[in-house]
Amino acid sequence: MAWYTRTSATNKVNGHGISNRGIVNSHFETLRRKLADKTAIGGVIGLGYVGLPLVQHLCTAGYRVLGFDIDTVKTDSIAKGKSYIKHIDSQWIERTVNSGAFVATTDFSRLKEADCISICVPTPLDEHNAPDMRYVLDTADRIATHLRPGQLVILESTTYPGTTVEALLPILSRGGFEVGKDFFLVFSPEREDPGNAQYTIRTIPKVIGGMTPLCAELASQYYATIFERTVIVSSPAAAELTKLVENIFRCVNIALVNELKMLCDRMDIDIWEVIDAAATKPFGYMPFYPGPGLGGHCIPIDPFYLSWKAREFGFVTRFIELAGEINTSMPDYVIHRLMLALNERAKPLRGARVLVLGLAYKRDVDDCRESPSLRLIELLHDNGAQVDYNDPYVPQAPRMRKYRIEMKSIALTPEALRGYDAVLIVTDHTTYDYAFIVEHAQLVVDTRNATRGVTAGREKIVRA
Ligand SMILES: NC(=O)c1ccc[n+]([C@@H]2O[C@H](COP(=O)([O-])OP(=O)(O)OC[C@H]3O[C@@H](n4cnc5c(N)ncnc54)[C@H](O)[C@@H]3O)[C@@H](O)[C@H]2O)c1
Repeated sequence: MAWYTRTSATNKVNGHGISNRGIVNSHFETLRRKLADKTAIGGVIGLGYVGLPLVQHLCTAGYRVLGFDIDTVKTDSIAKGKSYIKHIDSQWIERTVNSGAFVATTDFSRLKEADCISICVPTPLDEHNAPDMRYVLDTADRIATHLRPGQLVILESTTYPGTTVEALLPILSRGGFEVGKDFFLVFSPEREDPGNAQYTIRTIPKVIGGMTPLCAELASQYYATIFERTVIVSSPAAAELTKLVENIFRCVNIALVNELKMLCDRMDIDIWEVIDAAATKPFGYMPFYPGPGLGGHCIPIDPFYLSWKAREFGFVTRFIELAGEINTSMPDYVIHRLMLALNERAKPLRGARVLVLGLAYKRDVDDCRESPSLRLIELLHDNGAQVDYNDPYVPQAPRMRKYRIEMKSIALTPEALRGYDAVLIVTDHTTYDYAFIVEHAQLVVDTRNATRGVTAGREKIVRA
């Protein structure tokens, strides 16, 4: 099915090529009309945790969408109507694919069929904590190869300020097309909070920074159909930094509360009680909670995109560096607390059997990227412990760039729990029955205060 029809010379406004803004820009007016009557075709590159939900919202809003990925496992799975993301329903995929509203493909020549192209590819760090831009650059190259006049390109991947102008624009302009006239370019960060039932894509305002006001206007018109509110800022760089500021704010505050937790452990004060009490202040305080270390694709990574860029300006982002130092040391702290707890029971960590509860990086999701559980399992192995894990959402440890963990989730039975010297709660999934876990475990080391409601067997619980 070819959805793309070439923009004809008759695509003029008011019949004489003058838009009501007084600007001769037939491509702008053509796309504006297509967006208004929903005949515009959406394109989404990268069908992962960000891209696939975006496709779902675009299709629900009435657009036909082409999804692009280099991973044939994903495109094949979609073609078979099978979801690979927990909160995306397989039936929805099957229905939408069968209706023809959603096509997933690895054929990037079909990019020319799309009117609006959203880029949702990974932006990880390399081994030196510098931005690994190869996915974004590869995608830009593929778009440039097939770029046609009138297309809107939206970068959604989290990145450093300057990416859209310095990295994307030169590649997309290489065929001689002029931005703001022949094609339109914006940065609009993804802000999804997976597993958060309170805020969905629709209710989270969408920030947009366009290369020109017309670029921003088109993106705003497109996204206004799936987001309740769009927020236009003055430039792509302002939008790029907005996303980083949000995540740096979280990263720094989590580091602060992690440091306070370690102090509270020494002072024998319950940090969780203190945070709950502080949170009763109706202004000027927002609770953040300690944990075993940062996880997920965003908070442990994004701040370093800014530290890297800041070096170009001879600037050291000290808050980010310090927060990174504290947060990455938390798994070591947890292991130290576990060792002390075992020591109390005259057991060394070497040779101990330890069950890690939760492999996902946060509660009620199946995403293990950068999960502190992976680092903890590695440290436990390094210290000679025998390790198993349980995670209701992760039956098998996925292959990761950094970690090779060949493990399967074990069943949580009373016998299994009794067989471990320690149960280490890393991810506080709400489906766990913590009273049952404490009842049958010999020792529970709790990094999330997940056992706060358990009354029986409290002498077996150690906070870490
Ligand atoms: N996951 C989140 O909650 C979240 C939230 C906000 C922002 N982000 C940002 O969004 C971006 C995407 O994150 P994600 O979690 O969806 O990643 P993901 O790994 O789940 O998905 C990325 C997809 O892109 C595909 N891909 C890689 N290179 C490609 C290429 N050249 N062409 C086409 N497809 C390609 C991969 O195969 C994968 O399917 C990142 O920049 C991330 O920082 C993620």
